Order: sequence, then structure tokens, then C-alpha cells
Amino acid sequence: MTRTPIRDLPQHAGETVTVSGWLYNRRSKGKIHFLQVRDGSGIVQAVMGQLDVSPEVFERSGALPYETSLSVTGAVRADARAPGGVELLVKDVAVHHEPPQEYPISKQEHGPDFLLSNRHLWLRSRKPHATLRVRDAAITAVRRFFDERGFVCLDAPIFTPSACEGTTNLFKVQYFDEECYLTQSGQLYMEAGAMAFGKVYCFGPTFRAERSKTRRHLTEFWMLEPEVAYATLEDIMDLAEELIVAVVKHVLEHRRPELQVLERDLSKLERIERPFPRIRYAEAVALLREKGLPFEEGNDLGAPDETALSGHFDRPVLVHRYPAAVKAFYMKRDPADERYALCVDVLAPERVGEIIGGGQREDDLAALERRIAEHGLPREPFEWYLDLRRYGTVPHAGFGLGLERTVAWLCGTEHVRECIPFPRMLYRIYP
Ligand code: 4AD
Ligand code: MG
Repeated sequence: MTRTPIRDLPQHAGETVTVSGWLYNRRSKGKIHFLQVRDGSGIVQAVMGQLDVSPEVFERSGALPYETSLSVTGAVRADARAPGGVELLVKDVAVHHEPPQEYPISKQEHGPDFLLSNRHLWLRSRKPHATLRVRDAAITAVRRFFDERGFVCLDAPIFTPSACEGTTNLFKVQYFDEECYLTQSGQLYMEAGAMAFGKVYCFGPTFRAERSKTRRHLTEFWMLEPEVAYATLEDIMDLAEELIVAVVKHVLEHRRPELQVLERDLSKLERIERPFPRIRYAEAVALLREKGLPFEEGNDLGAPDETALSGHFDRPVLVHRYPAAVKAFYMKRDPADERYALCVDVLAPERVGEIIGGGQREDDLAALERRIAEHGLPREPFEWYLDLRRYGTVPHAGFGLGLERTVAWLCGTEHVRECIPFPRMLYRIYP
């Protein structure tokens, strides 16, 4: 028996095909059952008249529980009113498994905790399904973007001896007789990669023991990190803009139906074009004060500040040159004013906040040695990193894009937990 994906049914109008999937919904009207069948590629309505099938099949089909797995054979009929443009006129149904108990996720509202505890099943529902298909398209888009520009995909290790993004949110792991950490970022390894390949990126899971329970924080999230030799802050700001525009465009092109399921306001994404506004940290501070936020100059932007700035623009805004004191040890200082770092955060609009953090790296050996000491970091695990400044050091820059926050923005989803298949958070490691 060949299976036809529901997505391909319009190409088979007039033919008899078999669709294998699960019963998503069901209703009956007189002598007709309407079975909504999903197979992961789409949902189709299968119409079963009483006289089209055997009496046993008809009777059983009227009582099948949700998520029964089944194969439906029927004729494909084009119908402009049907979602997906086709219906299936049923000739036969073969049931693979009829769940003996009721499916836990009903069509009514459930609380987020219940749904997250049933994430393994919730994935089958329309909205998570749509969100994760947008995530999939975003991944395809970023990989294509870098591939087309001659970047080499270089994977970074997950077990690491050193901290890249501060020491307060490290996950310690017993590594045989020593301790190591789960990676917070692949950046340092990408810097080595950039010196070997020129333009590289990594894309993998990263870990932060975030004790905060916010809509923007996961303890395990996916980060995309390009790194470019001979690049400056300005160069990677251009790269970040181009990347975001490419991802939005790809998703609009390939995931429009999913965005519609999510009731996303597409006009907000359609206006995402270059150039994006670029403001200095100092201008961001002035803007926050105008908005009446009690912001203390010299601090990092907090979540409410990011939310306010992000709501101010209709496209992503690049905030650059933060005070060096609030940023990571590897950031290069601005030669025009050493109090500031050559760094950039990209804040997505619609109150989403930071989706990218990056900048130009310190490429001077002595300065970097000083920073490592100033940040109270142990020297030994960074010796290899210092070597990059000992052997042919060059200006270089890169950034990290948080995939789940980007997907949250694309989908118009409030919380990043819905933008990863199995979220890991402060109080959640199941399922
Ligand atoms: O700004 P961050 O901490 O930058 C870095 O890690 C750099 N080393 C990256 C680089 O330059 N190669 O993190 C980058 C992005 C953030 O902008 C955000 O989108 C995401 O990673 N991110 C998180 N996403 C979900 N949950 C968390 N706890 C996150 N922390 C950071
Ligand atoms: Mg950041």
C-alpha cells in the first residue's frame, strides 16, 4: 500500500489514494461521518457516507476516539471550500490502533503546565505543530544563508573547560575525574575556526543555569553563531541585518499557512526590510528616559528596558556600544572611547527584546590577558584562546542568534518555551 502525504493530495484530484495518520477530529451528521485525519504533513476531511463502506466500518468510524491511528482509502475530490482545497471520499478505513482510553488533550483550553507536561502529545496539536514547522523553516533559512555566503559550518563542543558568558549560570558536569561545564556559547571555538577557515558558524544547543523564570529564558536553547576574520563591528551589524531579513522572507514564503494557524499579523513581518535603525547605548538610554523608565546610565539593559525599546520600532533595532563594564571579557573596546565596547544587541520588535548579541572581539594579547584577570577568570583554560592572539591575530567579529527567541518573534508567541520541541526550564525537565 502506498501512502500519499496529505500535503500532496491536491496533485491527486480524481484519484483513489490511501492516507495514513491519526484521527484529529470527528463529527457526524445523519448518514455521514466527517473524519478529520492528520498525518503530520496536513489535515484532510474524510467524508464517509453510510452506503460507501460496510455497516461495521460505518458504525465503528462513528465512535473512534481521537488519535486513533488509521489508514483511509478514498477518492480525492477538489473542493475550494475545504482547507487545503481537497476532501477525501472514503471507500475504506483500516484502524491500526484504537486508544483504549480518552486522549488527554481535549479541544477545550488547558493550562500551560498541563500542556507542557503532555508536550510529547501536545506536539500533535495545531499550534505547536505550526510553531515547530516555522522553527524548522528558520533553521533551513539560516543554514542556506551562510552556505550561500561561503561560511563553513563548524561544530563547537558541548563539554567545555571554560566559561564564555560569565560564571553565574554555568552547568557543572562531572567529566571523569575533573569537572567541566556545558557550553554557554560556541563563540570562542568559532574564533579559532575563523582563523582557520575565514568565515564559520556553529549551530547547536547551549546551556545556561538561568534561575529566572521569564518568558525569554530557557536553560537549554539553540544558538546560531557566525564568526568572521577581518570583520569589524560594522560588518557584522550588516550581516545580522541581512540574516534577519533572509529568515523572515524564507518563513513568509514557506510557512504562510502555519503563520495563519498561529493568527500571526503578517503585515508586521512583511515590513521587515533593511536598513534597521541603529542606535548607540547612549541614545537608547535617552529614549528610555523619554519613556519615563528609571534607567541608570552605565547599567546593562534589563528586560523591561528591552521590551520598551523593542516596542518603539517597527523593525529590529541594533543597539551598539554598551559600557564595556557590563559586557563579557572578550569584547573589544571602542578605540574612540575606551569606556564602551564594540558590541551590538539586536532587539526584535513587538516587545520581543534581544534576539542577537555579538560584536568585535579583543584581538590584542596583552589587553585580553588583562580582561581575563579583571573578570576573575582562571587563566589556564583560556591558554588556547590566547594562542589565537599569539599567532597571526586579526580583527574579527561575530554574533549569536537565539533560535527560540527568533521563532517566538516570527510566530508572535509570547513565551520561548513553545518554540522548542521539549523545553528545559528552571522547574521543567519532563518529558
Ligand atoms: O547575548 P548572548 O549571551 O551572547 C553570546 O553568548 C555570545 N557569545 C554570542 C556570540 O557572539 N557568538 O546570547 C546570544 C543570544 C541572545 O541574544 C538570545 O537570543 C539567546 O542567545 N539567549 C537565550 N535564549 C533563550 N534562553 C536563554 N536563557 C538565552 N540566553 C541567551
Ligand atoms: Mg546578550
